[in-house]
Amino acid sequence: MRLEALKFIRCPACKGPLRLTAKRAVRGEVLDGYLSCLGCGLKFGIHNGLPSLLAPGCLRAANWLSRLLYDVYAPFYDRLEARLARSLGFSEGELREEIASYLDLSGHESVLEVCVGTGGNLPYIRARTNGLVAGLDISREMLRVCQAKARELGLDAHLFMGCAERLPFKDGFFDRVLIGGGISYFSDPRAALAEARRVASDGGLVIVFEQVTALERLLKRELMPLRYLPKGLKPIGLKWLFKRRFYLLKLACQ
Ligand SMILES: C[S@@+](CC[C@H](N)C(=O)[O-])C[C@H]1O[C@@H](n2cnc3c(N)ncnc32)[C@H](O)[C@@H]1O
Ligand SMILES: [Zn+2]
Repeated sequence: MRLEALKFIRCPACKGPLRLTAKRAVRGEVLDGYLSCLGCGLKFGIHNGLPSLLAPGCLRAANWLSRLLYDVYAPFYDRLEARLARSLGFSEGELREEIASYLDLSGHESVLEVCVGTGGNLPYIRARTNGLVAGLDISREMLRVCQAKARELGLDAHLFMGCAERLPFKDGFFDRVLIGGGISYFSDPRAALAEARRVASDGGLVIVFEQVTALERLLKRELMPLRYLPKGLKPIGLKWLFKRRFYLLKLACQ
Protein backbone atom coordinates (compact mmCIF):
# COMPACT_ATOMS: atom_id res chain seq x y z
CA MET A 1 0.00 0.00 0.00
CA ARG A 2 1.36 3.40 -0.94
CA LEU A 3 0.99 6.38 1.42
CA GLU A 4 -1.02 8.21 -1.26
CA ALA A 5 -3.88 5.79 -0.51
CA LEU A 6 -4.45 7.40 2.90
CA LYS A 7 -6.11 10.33 1.17
CA PHE A 8 -8.98 8.22 -0.18
CA ILE A 9 -9.36 5.08 1.97
CA ARG A 10 -11.87 5.05 4.83
CA CYS A 11 -13.11 2.50 7.35
CA PRO A 12 -15.43 0.08 5.46
CA ALA A 13 -17.68 -0.19 8.54
CA CYS A 14 -18.20 3.40 9.77
CA LYS A 15 -16.45 5.37 6.94
CA GLY A 16 -14.24 7.06 9.52
CA PRO A 17 -10.61 8.07 8.84
CA LEU A 18 -7.87 5.46 9.16
CA ARG A 19 -4.52 5.83 10.90
CA LEU A 20 -1.57 3.89 9.53
CA THR A 21 0.94 1.99 11.65
CA ALA A 22 3.71 0.73 9.35
CA LYS A 23 5.89 -2.17 10.47
CA ARG A 24 7.80 -2.69 7.23
CA ALA A 25 8.05 -0.27 4.33
CA VAL A 26 10.22 -0.13 1.22
CA ARG A 27 10.52 2.98 -0.97
CA GLY A 28 7.27 4.55 0.23
CA GLU A 29 5.30 1.29 -0.01
CA VAL A 30 3.99 -0.16 3.26
CA LEU A 31 4.45 -3.93 3.11
CA ASP A 32 3.32 -4.86 6.62
CA GLY A 33 1.41 -3.00 9.29
CA TYR A 34 -2.16 -2.11 10.10
CA LEU A 35 -4.80 0.59 9.77
CA SER A 36 -6.88 1.64 12.77
CA CYS A 37 -10.20 3.40 12.46
CA LEU A 38 -10.36 6.65 14.41
CA GLY A 39 -14.16 6.37 14.37
CA CYS A 40 -15.08 2.85 15.54
CA GLY A 41 -11.68 1.47 16.57
CA LEU A 42 -11.62 -1.50 14.16
CA LYS A 43 -8.16 -2.63 12.98
CA PHE A 44 -7.29 -3.82 9.46
CA GLY A 45 -4.07 -5.66 8.62
CA ILE A 46 -1.66 -4.96 5.77
CA HIS A 47 0.28 -8.03 4.64
CA ASN A 48 2.74 -8.13 1.74
CA GLY A 49 1.58 -4.69 0.63
CA LEU A 50 -2.10 -5.63 0.52
CA PRO A 51 -4.49 -3.92 2.98
CA SER A 52 -7.36 -6.14 4.10
CA LEU A 53 -10.32 -3.79 4.41
CA LEU A 54 -13.08 -6.35 4.86
CA ALA A 55 -15.90 -5.02 7.06
CA PRO A 56 -17.72 -7.27 9.52
CA GLY A 57 -20.55 -8.73 7.42
CA CYS A 58 -18.60 -8.80 4.12
CA LEU A 59 -18.27 -12.57 4.20
CA ARG A 60 -21.91 -13.50 4.60
CA ALA A 61 -23.52 -16.28 2.55
CA ALA A 62 -22.82 -15.92 -1.19
CA ASN A 63 -19.74 -13.75 -0.66
CA TRP A 64 -18.13 -16.37 1.55
CA LEU A 65 -18.62 -18.99 -1.15
CA SER A 66 -17.39 -16.68 -3.98
CA ARG A 67 -14.26 -15.91 -2.05
CA LEU A 68 -13.56 -19.58 -1.46
CA LEU A 69 -14.15 -20.47 -5.13
CA TYR A 70 -12.03 -17.61 -6.48
CA ASP A 71 -9.23 -18.30 -3.98
CA VAL A 72 -9.02 -21.81 -5.46
CA TYR A 73 -9.53 -20.71 -9.08
CA ALA A 74 -6.98 -17.84 -8.95
CA PRO A 75 -3.86 -19.68 -10.24
CA PHE A 76 -5.79 -20.99 -13.28
CA TYR A 77 -8.09 -18.01 -13.94
CA ASP A 78 -6.11 -16.17 -16.64
CA ARG A 79 -5.31 -19.26 -18.69
CA LEU A 80 -8.80 -20.77 -18.49
CA GLU A 81 -10.66 -17.53 -19.17
CA ALA A 82 -8.50 -16.84 -22.25
CA ARG A 83 -9.17 -20.37 -23.49
CA LEU A 84 -12.90 -20.02 -22.82
CA ALA A 85 -13.03 -16.74 -24.77
CA ARG A 86 -11.25 -18.34 -27.76
CA SER A 87 -13.64 -21.29 -27.69
CA LEU A 88 -16.56 -18.83 -27.86
CA GLY A 89 -15.05 -17.03 -30.85
CA PHE A 90 -13.54 -13.87 -29.40
CA SER A 91 -10.28 -12.87 -27.76
CA GLU A 92 -9.97 -11.74 -24.18
CA GLY A 93 -8.23 -8.60 -25.46
CA GLU A 94 -11.30 -7.70 -27.55
CA LEU A 95 -13.53 -8.08 -24.50
CA ARG A 96 -11.28 -5.92 -22.32
CA GLU A 97 -11.05 -3.23 -25.02
CA GLU A 98 -14.86 -3.11 -25.05
CA ILE A 99 -15.01 -2.75 -21.26
CA ALA A 100 -12.33 -0.06 -21.00
CA SER A 101 -13.69 1.98 -23.92
CA TYR A 102 -17.19 1.96 -22.33
CA LEU A 103 -15.76 3.92 -19.38
CA ASP A 104 -15.53 7.04 -21.63
CA LEU A 105 -12.12 8.03 -20.32
CA SER A 106 -10.47 11.15 -21.68
CA GLY A 107 -7.08 10.87 -20.00
CA HIS A 108 -7.32 12.29 -16.49
CA GLU A 109 -10.15 10.47 -14.66
CA SER A 110 -9.73 8.40 -11.49
CA VAL A 111 -11.08 4.85 -11.81
CA LEU A 112 -12.03 2.15 -9.31
CA GLU A 113 -12.60 -1.40 -10.46
CA VAL A 114 -14.66 -3.37 -7.92
CA CYS A 115 -14.08 -7.13 -8.50
CA VAL A 116 -10.72 -6.41 -10.10
CA GLY A 117 -9.80 -10.11 -9.89
CA THR A 118 -6.41 -10.82 -11.47
CA GLY A 119 -6.42 -7.35 -13.00
CA GLY A 120 -7.11 -8.25 -16.64
CA ASN A 121 -8.81 -4.88 -17.29
CA LEU A 122 -6.16 -2.75 -15.58
CA PRO A 123 -3.69 -2.35 -18.51
CA TYR A 124 -6.59 -1.32 -20.77
CA ILE A 125 -7.84 1.23 -18.22
CA ARG A 126 -4.33 2.52 -17.50
CA ALA A 127 -3.77 3.06 -21.23
CA ARG A 128 -6.75 5.48 -21.22
CA THR A 129 -6.11 7.59 -18.12
CA ASN A 130 -3.25 9.14 -16.16
CA GLY A 131 -5.58 9.50 -13.16
CA LEU A 132 -5.49 7.35 -10.04
CA VAL A 133 -6.46 3.71 -10.68
CA ALA A 134 -7.58 1.40 -7.85
CA GLY A 135 -8.85 -2.17 -7.70
CA LEU A 136 -10.72 -4.03 -4.98
CA ASP A 137 -11.60 -7.70 -4.64
CA ILE A 138 -12.85 -10.07 -1.98
CA SER A 139 -10.41 -12.87 -2.90
CA ARG A 140 -6.89 -12.64 -1.52
CA GLU A 141 -5.56 -15.14 -4.07
CA MET A 142 -7.02 -13.29 -7.07
CA LEU A 143 -5.39 -10.13 -5.70
CA ARG A 144 -2.04 -11.86 -5.27
CA VAL A 145 -2.03 -12.74 -8.97
CA CYS A 146 -3.11 -9.16 -9.75
CA GLN A 147 -0.35 -7.71 -7.58
CA ALA A 148 2.34 -9.87 -9.25
CA LYS A 149 1.05 -8.92 -12.70
CA ALA A 150 0.98 -5.21 -11.84
CA ARG A 151 4.58 -5.40 -10.58
CA GLU A 152 5.72 -7.27 -13.67
CA LEU A 153 4.03 -4.82 -16.06
CA GLY A 154 5.02 -1.76 -13.99
CA LEU A 155 1.32 -0.89 -13.70
CA ASP A 156 0.50 1.95 -11.36
CA ALA A 157 -2.60 0.78 -9.45
CA HIS A 158 -3.66 0.69 -5.79
CA LEU A 159 -5.04 -2.70 -4.69
CA PHE A 160 -7.28 -3.51 -1.73
CA MET A 161 -9.03 -6.53 -0.32
CA GLY A 162 -12.61 -5.67 0.56
CA CYS A 163 -16.18 -6.28 -0.50
CA ALA A 164 -18.43 -4.44 -2.94
CA GLU A 165 -21.15 -4.04 -0.32
CA ARG A 166 -18.92 -2.05 2.10
CA LEU A 167 -16.42 -0.08 0.06
CA PRO A 168 -13.48 1.32 2.07
CA PHE A 169 -13.35 4.63 0.20
CA LYS A 170 -14.21 8.28 0.66
CA ASP A 171 -17.53 9.63 -0.69
CA GLY A 172 -17.41 10.98 -4.26
CA PHE A 173 -13.73 10.22 -4.84
CA PHE A 174 -13.77 8.31 -8.15
CA ASP A 175 -14.81 9.62 -11.57
CA ARG A 176 -15.54 6.09 -12.75
CA VAL A 177 -16.54 2.97 -10.82
CA LEU A 178 -16.55 -0.28 -12.75
CA ILE A 179 -18.17 -3.34 -11.19
CA GLY A 180 -16.11 -5.74 -13.24
CA GLY A 181 -18.13 -8.98 -13.12
CA GLY A 182 -19.95 -11.06 -10.55
CA ILE A 183 -22.72 -8.75 -9.32
CA SER A 184 -25.34 -11.49 -9.89
CA TYR A 185 -23.63 -13.55 -7.18
CA PHE A 186 -23.02 -10.84 -4.57
CA SER A 187 -24.58 -11.31 -1.13
CA ASP A 188 -26.26 -7.93 -1.53
CA PRO A 189 -26.27 -6.36 -5.03
CA ARG A 190 -28.47 -3.48 -3.84
CA ALA A 191 -25.89 -2.44 -1.23
CA ALA A 192 -23.09 -2.82 -3.79
CA LEU A 193 -24.80 -0.43 -6.24
CA ALA A 194 -25.47 2.08 -3.46
CA GLU A 195 -21.83 1.91 -2.43
CA ALA A 196 -20.61 2.33 -6.02
CA ARG A 197 -22.78 5.46 -6.25
CA ARG A 198 -21.50 6.76 -2.92
CA VAL A 199 -17.81 6.58 -3.88
CA ALA A 200 -18.42 7.95 -7.42
CA SER A 201 -18.41 11.69 -8.02
CA ASP A 202 -21.53 13.66 -9.04
CA GLY A 203 -21.42 13.71 -12.83
CA GLY A 204 -19.35 10.51 -12.82
CA LEU A 205 -20.26 7.06 -14.14
CA VAL A 206 -20.88 3.64 -12.65
CA ILE A 207 -20.46 0.84 -15.19
CA VAL A 208 -21.65 -2.69 -14.52
CA PHE A 209 -20.04 -5.45 -16.56
CA GLU A 210 -21.62 -8.88 -16.28
CA GLN A 211 -21.64 -12.26 -17.95
CA VAL A 212 -25.04 -13.78 -18.65
CA THR A 213 -25.08 -17.50 -18.03
CA ALA A 214 -27.70 -19.98 -19.25
CA LEU A 215 -28.93 -20.24 -15.65
CA GLU A 216 -29.55 -16.49 -15.42
CA ARG A 217 -31.43 -16.56 -18.72
CA LEU A 218 -33.55 -19.41 -17.42
CA LEU A 219 -34.23 -17.61 -14.14
CA LYS A 220 -34.88 -14.35 -16.05
CA ARG A 221 -32.18 -12.65 -14.00
CA GLU A 222 -30.57 -10.88 -16.95
CA LEU A 223 -30.00 -7.20 -16.22
CA MET A 224 -30.73 -7.87 -12.56
CA PRO A 225 -28.89 -4.65 -11.44
CA LEU A 226 -31.68 -2.57 -13.01
CA ARG A 227 -34.00 -3.85 -10.28
CA TYR A 228 -31.75 -2.60 -7.51
CA LEU A 229 -30.77 0.89 -8.61
CA PRO A 230 -30.41 3.37 -5.75
CA LYS A 231 -31.45 7.00 -5.96
CA GLY A 232 -28.86 8.99 -7.90
CA LEU A 233 -28.01 6.33 -10.51
CA LYS A 234 -29.72 6.68 -13.88
CA PRO A 235 -29.32 4.15 -16.72
CA ILE A 236 -27.98 5.92 -19.83
CA GLY A 237 -26.60 3.06 -21.90
CA LEU A 238 -26.58 -0.68 -22.43
CA LYS A 239 -24.28 -2.65 -24.70
CA TRP A 240 -24.57 -6.37 -25.36
CA LEU A 241 -21.37 -8.16 -26.35
CA PHE A 242 -20.51 -11.39 -28.14
CA LYS A 243 -23.93 -12.84 -28.88
CA ARG A 244 -25.45 -11.42 -25.69
CA ARG A 245 -23.08 -13.41 -23.48
CA PHE A 246 -22.04 -10.23 -21.66
CA TYR A 247 -23.45 -6.79 -21.10
CA LEU A 248 -22.20 -3.39 -20.07
CA LEU A 249 -24.63 -1.14 -18.27
CA LYS A 250 -23.83 2.59 -18.05
CA LEU A 251 -25.26 4.50 -15.08
CA ALA A 252 -24.95 8.26 -14.68
CA CYS A 253 -24.35 9.66 -11.18
CA GLN A 254 -26.81 12.46 -10.49
C1 LIG B 1 -15.63 -13.04 -12.94
S1 LIG B 1 -14.34 -12.44 -11.87
C2 LIG B 1 -13.93 -10.94 -12.73
C3 LIG B 1 -12.51 -10.48 -12.48
C4 LIG B 1 -12.04 -9.32 -13.38
N1 LIG B 1 -12.86 -8.13 -13.28
C5 LIG B 1 -11.94 -9.75 -14.83
O1 LIG B 1 -12.60 -9.12 -15.67
O2 LIG B 1 -11.18 -10.68 -15.11
C6 LIG B 1 -15.29 -11.89 -10.47
C7 LIG B 1 -14.46 -11.36 -9.29
O3 LIG B 1 -15.36 -10.80 -8.33
C8 LIG B 1 -14.86 -11.04 -7.04
N2 LIG B 1 -16.01 -10.90 -6.11
C9 LIG B 1 -17.09 -11.70 -5.99
N3 LIG B 1 -17.94 -11.20 -5.07
C10 LIG B 1 -17.39 -10.04 -4.61
C11 LIG B 1 -17.82 -9.05 -3.66
N4 LIG B 1 -18.98 -9.16 -3.03
N5 LIG B 1 -17.01 -8.00 -3.46
C12 LIG B 1 -15.82 -7.88 -4.11
N6 LIG B 1 -15.37 -8.78 -5.01
C13 LIG B 1 -16.16 -9.85 -5.27
C14 LIG B 1 -14.28 -12.43 -7.13
O4 LIG B 1 -13.35 -12.69 -6.10
C15 LIG B 1 -13.65 -12.40 -8.54
O5 LIG B 1 -12.30 -12.01 -8.48
ZN1 LIG C 1 -14.71 2.55 11.64
